[in-house]
Amino acid sequence: MIQFHPLNAIFGFLVVTMVSLTSVTAACTREGLLAAAESYVAAQTNGKLDGLKLADNFIYQQDNKKTDVKSGVLSQPLKVDLNRSTADTTACASYTMLISSSGSKPYVIGTQIRHNGDDTSSIALIDTIAATTGDLFFNAKQTLGYIQKENWGTIPEGQRPSRDLLKKYGDAYLDMWTDAKAADSIQWGSDCERVEGSRLTKPCGGQLPRGGSLKPNGMRRYVIDETIGSVDVLCQFDSLGNMPDSHEIRVENGKVKYVHTITVQ
Ligand SMILES: *[C@@H]1O[C@H](CO)[C@@H](O)[C@H](O)[C@H]1NC(C)=O
Repeated sequence: MIQFHPLNAIFGFLVVTMVSLTSVTAACTREGLLAAAESYVAAQTNGKLDGLKLADNFIYQQDNKKTDVKSGVLSQPLKVDLNRSTADTTACASYTMLISSSGSKPYVIGTQIRHNGDDTSSIALIDTIAATTGDLFFNAKQTLGYIQKENWGTIPEGQRPSRDLLKKYGDAYLDMWTDAKAADSIQWGSDCERVEGSRLTKPCGGQLPRGGSLKPNGMRRYVIDETIGSVDVLCQFDSLGNMPDSHEIRVENGKVKYVHTITVQ
């Protein structure tokens, strides 16, 4: 029999702490995040939730509103032309962009997926911005044409932007409508491209907003992937009138290379 002793208590505490630390660092892997994102793309293709492992506290949010998933776009089958996912192992979240251009109702969708703690084996939140015909600059075929030509490959180690820089650029971009100085706090690549809905601006550092609105863009949710040099921010575009929105930015060599926006109007 083990007698109670303060050292046993301390040892026990250390073991518990070490076990939980180990599971924290081991569980939220890139592979786990991307597998969950893949299961989401498959579910969207089928319009069926069967293949998704949803947590007990699962929430579906579409266009910034909690929605019954059965009435959401995820419950309609879509032929997916393009999908691309990034993974944020720090926040334990992923971002997926998908384009469905050929159906009777085309879509360009940006989705962040979140998990309970670091457990990627089930999905706690599917948070979707789903733009379709009638939304801001919407033309899925044209968007697909631009985005198919882009390179979102892995950035070699040593050349990756820091998490802080990606967060800073994501925020500064969304601050341009309210802060006249925000645009100049970002380094714009000379050959960068901005695809807003289906509208292309090249180089992307031209024609930028410089303040003017008093309402900061709110409800910001981030997925940051240093290996791809990307940040996606889902938000409510309050500066121009409460629009559900996704802004995704890729940074190469410290400068903005691509910007994608999906805006529901
Ligand atoms: C999603 O993208 C991956 C990688 O490009 C591809 O292999 C897969 O077939 C795509 N899924 C769908 C449903 O289009």
